[in-house]
Amino acid sequence: MTLSSKDLTDDLPLERCPGPSWQDKLDEDERPVPEYLRKQYPYLNGFKDIPKERYLSREWHELEKERLWSRVWQFACREEHIPDVGSYIVYEIADQSYLVTRVSPNEIKAYPNACLHRGRTLKTYDGRCSEFRCPFHGFAWNLDGTLKNIPAEWDFPHLEVRSEEMTLPEVKVGVWAGFVFINPDPDAESLDDFLGPEIQQHFERWDFENRYVQAHVAKIIRCNWKIAHESFCEGFHVNATHPQGMGYTGDPQSQIDVYGNAARQLSPKGIPCVMLPETPTEEEMFRASLDVRIGEDLPVPFEEGDTLRDALSRAGRERFRSSFGERVDDLGDAEFLDAWVYVIHPNFQPWGALNRIVYRFRPNGDDHETCIFEMLYVSPFTGERPPPAKVVHLGADDPWTDAVGLENLAMVAEQDTFNMEQVHLGLKNLRRDGVALSRYQESLIRWKHDLLEEHIERGPVSS
Ligand code: FES
Ligand SMILES: [Fe+2]
Repeated sequence: MTLSSKDLTDDLPLERCPGPSWQDKLDEDERPVPEYLRKQYPYLNGFKDIPKERYLSREWHELEKERLWSRVWQFACREEHIPDVGSYIVYEIADQSYLVTRVSPNEIKAYPNACLHRGRTLKTYDGRCSEFRCPFHGFAWNLDGTLKNIPAEWDFPHLEVRSEEMTLPEVKVGVWAGFVFINPDPDAESLDDFLGPEIQQHFERWDFENRYVQAHVAKIIRCNWKIAHESFCEGFHVNATHPQGMGYTGDPQSQIDVYGNAARQLSPKGIPCVMLPETPTEEEMFRASLDVRIGEDLPVPFEEGDTLRDALSRAGRERFRSSFGERVDDLGDAEFLDAWVYVIHPNFQPWGALNRIVYRFRPNGDDHETCIFEMLYVSPFTGERPPPAKVVHLGADDPWTDAVGLENLAMVAEQDTFNMEQVHLGLKNLRRDGVALSRYQESLIRWKHDLLEEHIERGPVSS
C-alpha cells in the first residue's frame, strides 16, 4: 500500500494481523459464546507520536501529581487487607499518603495521612487500631475521623471552638470486585460511573469478591511508571521479548476493546504466532504452553484428536470446579485458557476470566525516574478465606525469581523488566521528539495517553 500523509486519517481501513483471530477461536468453543465477547470496540485516534517528555521530565511528573493522581480513581488495596473494624492500610502515591480504614463492618473511609496539629503522618505502616493517635504529641481521632482527644486541652481553646476543622478530612472511597479504590477529588464522579457498565458486567462472571491475595510482590524498577505499565498494554513484543510464547499464543492476533476508562486485550492460546516459520502441531503447542518437552510426562491429559484448547479448557474447568462449583459449566473455554488483560486508567491491570494476575504501577515516591511495579495473584479458594499474602519487596537489582509464589511468571516478568530500564535510558538518547505506536496492536497505549492528556488539560483540583 502506498500512502501519502493526507491518507492518514481514522477512515483508513483498519488492517488486522493475517491468520485466525481470537474470534475465530471462539467459534471452536463447545459452549455458546456470550454476545459481549462478540462485540468489538477498537480504538482509533490518529497516528501522532507520544512526546518523550511525558516519561522523562520532572515538569510532567509535577503535572501528573497535581492533575492526575489528585483527581482519579485508583486501586488502594483489596477488601481483605482491611478485614476488621479498625484495620487500616497506608496507601502512597507519589508524595501523597492516605489512610484507608474499615470504620464499621460495611463502611470503609480514607483520610489524608496527616495529623491536624502540626502535620506528622498519623501512620507509617499497615495494621489495626482503635483510634488514630499521632505519635508526636498524642492528638487522637476516632476511626470515623472525629476528634477524640487533644492532650493539654487547656492550651488549645482556639481549636476547641473550631472543632469541625479538626475532623479528619475524607477522600472518596469505592469498592468494586473486592478492590478498594480512592479518589482525592471531592467532585469526582462515582466509581461506578468511572468504571462504566461494561467492565462491571464482564467481571460479574468471575467472582473476584470471593478471592484471596495468594501472592504479592512489589519491585522497584529504574524507569518511569508509564514505561513499566505500557510493557503490559500490548502483546506485540512477545515475538522478541518472550519468544518461548510464540509456539502457542497468537499475540499479534489479539483483540483490543476500549470502553471509556477501561479496556481489554484478549490474546488467544492455540494459535501459533504468525511470525513463526513453521506451524507446530496441536500437541506441540500444548506441550510448549505447559513447558513440557516431547517424551516428558504431561501434568494434564492430552487425548487423541484433542486441540490445545480442548485439553487446556477441560483441565481448567475441572481445576476450578471445587472453588466455583457447577458455574464452571456456564463459562466458555476461552475463560479458562486465554490471556484476558484488562486495563483500568491510569495504572491498574486486573486480568479477567479465570486468570489471577493483577498489576499496579506507581511512581516510586516522588521520583519520576523509578517506579514500583506490583504483581498480585488474586485466586479463588475453597473453605475459609486464607489471609492475604504479605508483600515481598524487591529492590531494583533483585530478580523476580527471588520472590517465591510467582512460579513461571517470575521468568516472564524478568524478560519484561529487562526492557523497561533500557527504554528509559534509550529515550534519553532518542533523536526524535516522541515514540511511534502501531495503529491497532499498540492502540491501548494511545488510549492511555489520550486519557492522561484529558486529565492534564482539565487543570488541578479546585480546593
Ligand atoms: S503533630 Fe500530631 S500531635 Fe502534634
Ligand atoms: Fe511481556
